[in-house]
Amino acid sequence: MPSRLSPRSAQPLPTAAAADSSTSSLTSDFSVRLIAWQRKHGRHDLPWQNTRDPYRIWLSEIMLQQTQVSTVIPYYAKFLARFPDVATLAVAPVDDVMALWAGLGYYTRARNLHRCAQAVVEQHGGAFPASVAELAELPGIGRSTAAAIASFAFGARATILDGNVKRVLARVFGVEGFPGEKKVENAMWTLAESLLPSNASDDDVGAYTQGLMDLGATLCVRGKPDCLRCPFAADCVANVTGRQRELPAARPKKAVPTRRTWMLVLRDGNAVMLEKRPPSGIWGGLWSLPEAADEASLAARAREFGGDGGGVPQLSPLAPLTHVFTHFKLDIEPRLAELDRGVGALAALGDADTAWVALSDLDSFGVPAPVRKLLDSLQGSLI
Ligand code: ADE
Repeated sequence: MPSRLSPRSAQPLPTAAAADSSTSSLTSDFSVRLIAWQRKHGRHDLPWQNTRDPYRIWLSEIMLQQTQVSTVIPYYAKFLARFPDVATLAVAPVDDVMALWAGLGYYTRARNLHRCAQAVVEQHGGAFPASVAELAELPGIGRSTAAAIASFAFGARATILDGNVKRVLARVFGVEGFPGEKKVENAMWTLAESLLPSNASDDDVGAYTQGLMDLGATLCVRGKPDCLRCPFAADCVANVTGRQRELPAARPKKAVPTRRTWMLVLRDGNAVMLEKRPPSGIWGGLWSLPEAADEASLAARAREFGGDGGGVPQLSPLAPLTHVFTHFKLDIEPRLAELDRGVGALAALGDADTAWVALSDLDSFGVPAPVRKLLDSLQGSLI
């Protein structure tokens, strides 16, 4: 019995590899299998199907951008009743277009729709151009939408690559990387192009494009894909390796910015100088170590706290530490400055916002966790 985890199908494709030899057989019969599946199991009675009218197809594709089929259906009907052809739409007041669009969202689409209708009338004599390149020049029509219109209306051998199709390709072919990233997206375009049916009739091309849409919308869905019914289950990298949840890769988390701060551990015997932080901002109102934005400023603060009786305290570095907040990382550069004057004598230097605190008494003060960790590590070094 052939193993479902055969090395051929389990090998994930590197991001840029559209189709290497290990997946070439799947690549070569992908379209045949998809078209057969679409004819048997795909959707055939959506209101914008069973027509070659580019106006109707274009209108549906624009409405379906970022919008579910069930939401689009009533809008599509209303829109066609009021604007049955591109010429009617082109001469309509934009406010009428916006009014009929109200509720569909993404209103730039409606404004572009109107501008596009005018461009088709003015630049193309009222007939939508048939090539992907010319379609993609029109307002609101990107590369994938142009390909959808060209394949449905004109039988062009052109591939679509919307979010659903990216998900299907990432899973079936094991394309790694976030598909919103240019490099990954380019690799997907190359892969998608390589999968197009060769020697296909106009109807085949339409069924193929619809098949990609249908697979992504009905089986290969984001949450719980229905792999048992999928025509590619036995070859799909995600299914075979159980990585449906990992493919396609999620948008990478933004790198958190790093801030750096210098902290003064001013110690006198078994006491350290703490400073109360301002009420708002990080560690608002907690007792922490005096800080500065660089080493020289920290030395100036040490001199200030050290007073004039004991000379300038020397700063010696302690091991740096990093604390991760939700929105940034804080690199802490602690510097130790030792005094030997007895805390009692120095108590006068404290004010409402500073305090000499015995290391054994830190529990009585609200001290931020990383600062506490730092101070606890000092305690062991006390004589
Ligand atoms: N999503 C985008 N285009 C579509 C179409 N023609 N049919 C169904 N869903 C779609």
